[in-house]
Amino acid sequence: MTPTEHDGRCVLRLILVAAASAMVLILAIAVDTAFAQSNRSDFADGAVAADGSLRVPEGFRERYVMLGAWAVAGDVDTGGKLGLHVVYAPGDAVTAFRKTGQFPDGTVLVKELFNGKTEDLTTGKATSAADVAGYFVMVKDREGRFSGNPLWGDGWGWSFFAAGETQKTRTKDYVTDCLGCHEPARATDLIYDYAYPVLRK
Ligand code: HEC
Repeated sequence: MTPTEHDGRCVLRLILVAAASAMVLILAIAVDTAFAQSNRSDFADGAVAADGSLRVPEGFRERYVMLGAWAVAGDVDTGGKLGLHVVYAPGDAVTAFRKTGQFPDGTVLVKELFNGKTEDLTTGKATSAADVAGYFVMVKDREGRFSGNPLWGDGWGWSFFAAGETQKTRTKDYVTDCLGCHEPARATDLIYDYAYPVLRK
């Protein structure tokens, strides 16, 4: 072997070793990413604990799509004053609903209650969202995951959270605390979906 041939082989070997290491690295990153994704794709955006208790999903205002809002006169939740209810859902759930007319398994709906601030503006008497009064959260469940849990049934998980208590619900039983008021919307999976423009075709 001449010295140049020897050098050539060494370089080739180096290249092979480098290529093999790169492949191992790429594989490691791929496995790691897949693992992280499978962790991240937790049921219902991390809004449901293993025991079926719900919480308000973190950062929903920035991460979710606003479906629409209700101006509610004489709201029981805001002591009879004009209040605003703003409803949110994840963007991919909205996309799916627009295709199929149904929210996919694991969809989280958040209704945020605001006390209204009413004032005379250049437009006339106008009400804006002031402080938060609470949150209603529903999670779509097509598999009956938590049968026997009083926060789950009729295809949804149900919970109310007072302002500042986003981790611990005050709801004891969805049948007594929620269902009666949602019965009028039974034909649309218990959701008042006609009020949300982004869901319309
Ligand atoms: C007093 C009647 C009443 C009760 C009790 C009630 N809801 Fe509702 N809910 C409504 C009405 C009416 C709407 C739509 C209009 C509005 O917000 O004023 C609504 C809207 C919602 C929405 C937005 C999606 C939709 O259906 O349009 C969520 C989420 C929600 N409620 C969750 C709950 C949960 C969870 C409970 C129980 C902890 C509950 N609600 C109890 C009457 C009620």
